[in-house]
Amino acid sequence: MWTRRRFLLTAAASAASLTVPLSAGRALAREEPDLVLRLTAAPDRISIWRGTGTEVLRYRAEVLRGRQDAVRPSSSYLGPTLELKRGERVRIHFVNRTGDPSIVHWHGMIVPDRADGHPRHAVGPGGEYVYEFTVRNPAGTYLYHPHPHGFTGKQVYYGLAGLLIVREREERAYGLPGPEHELSLVIQDRRVGRDNQFVFKRTMMDDMNGVLGDTVLVNGVPDAAFKVSPRSYRLRLANVSNARIYKLAWSDGRPMRVIATDNGLLSSAEGVQTRPYVVLAPFERVELLEDFGERRGGAEVALVSRAFSGLEMMDGMMGGMMGGMMGRGMGGMMGGMRGPGQGDELLVARFTVSTEAHARSEALRLPEPVRIPHEGKHAIYTQLAFRHMRGFFNGRRFEMEAVADDERLPLNEGTVWTFSNDGPGMPMPHPIHIHGVRFRVLERSGGDIPEELREGLIDAGYKDTFLIFPDERVRVHVMPTEPGLFMYHCHNLEHEDGGMMRNCLFGENTAALIRNKRNVDGK
Ligand code: C2O
Ligand code: CU
Repeated sequence: MWTRRRFLLTAAASAASLTVPLSAGRALAREEPDLVLRLTAAPDRISIWRGTGTEVLRYRAEVLRGRQDAVRPSSSYLGPTLELKRGERVRIHFVNRTGDPSIVHWHGMIVPDRADGHPRHAVGPGGEYVYEFTVRNPAGTYLYHPHPHGFTGKQVYYGLAGLLIVREREERAYGLPGPEHELSLVIQDRRVGRDNQFVFKRTMMDDMNGVLGDTVLVNGVPDAAFKVSPRSYRLRLANVSNARIYKLAWSDGRPMRVIATDNGLLSSAEGVQTRPYVVLAPFERVELLEDFGERRGGAEVALVSRAFSGLEMMDGMMGGMMGGMMGRGMGGMMGGMRGPGQGDELLVARFTVSTEAHARSEALRLPEPVRIPHEGKHAIYTQLAFRHMRGFFNGRRFEMEAVADDERLPLNEGTVWTFSNDGPGMPMPHPIHIHGVRFRVLERSGGDIPEELREGLIDAGYKDTFLIFPDERVRVHVMPTEPGLFMYHCHNLEHEDGGMMRNCLFGENTAALIRNKRNVDGK
């Protein structure tokens, strides 16, 4: 089905179609891009632990034209960090050298639908896809990762993911530490077999809870340790785990000072959000402003994920159910194989403060607030459910092209989208992501948020992913600006691959979009 020939045709067709206007009223600039990259996904074997090398999938990138510093290579399986500037015109040639279909999604970035990495654009082994977009997002910490339907969890797990950092000139005026005093931490958990290999899905528990690992890797490295100067740092934290939710805190009890969430810096009206800990669900990001100068020279401090039990009940219940279904021995065995549960204490990374003199930090000036809309003209409602090991939105599962009436949003007008996690089946939290927009969380009803996680939820700023708890209702304000077929889904990658994903259509011209899709596929 995924023949090489078909996908080369697809690539040619999609490259050619990029020269035509993307949407009525806004023709794609015919000018040459500022930056041209090639991004290749391919198998590799790297040394993570002593002994046998680990089989991974790995993104590599090279600059074909433009700033060489747009690609910062990684020394592990993790993809290189792409550093883009706001306003830059970018073209990226993606080459799929994995053995499965793949496509790249720029998580959190607002790009034309054709450049969004929708699974309908997936290319087979040997296939290529050309992306073209202008960087419209503000400075912030974004991600890129695969998005082929049914293979996303596996490909991310084996290593396909990377950071995408957007910078802009205005950042200097905010008094933030410069790029030399920034640290990015991509946080992932992996189950590691005796021969140093990543162990992906093993049991039906993995489809249910998502794959949880027993080892934390930061930037692809176990036991991550950083040496820092006694001064302020900008720390970018990204949860790129398939399913694990972290409760991140400093081991010495100092508060977390959050200056940015998923889609850029908080505004001066919101201010720095100071929390005892931060709850970070899969593919959410936060940026912290951390003054290591407030600790004595030589001090060691760890970033940890604190234990919590609120979600463990579900694990326990499932363990019991499985035990009942398969007999004690089997249930016990499965429990034993599972590794640390969702709420277990984990060490994420260690920081050692050097003994040089404390550098005073500048005053922070967060950007001016933009008007936050509180009501939309339009309203849609989505009920989440998880039953028979599968997730549903309004009773539906993923279909490649289908869009229901309650999945259509007008362009350039506000819609209040209510998600209600009270459908039939298993009560569980889900990290929900919407493509193609940056949204505001207007309200959460509370529901069954465990008391010990409550203070760590940060809904401030512009978000692209939010965590919804059992029995909770969350209202978000969405205003699409790019027309076309995008998607929303649970970002627990096993739930996503299991079909807890749907299309959403921005703008009216459905017929034209579907035609456009046929052109791209060359059908
Ligand atoms: Cu980060 Cu649809 O994904
Ligand atoms: Cu989910």
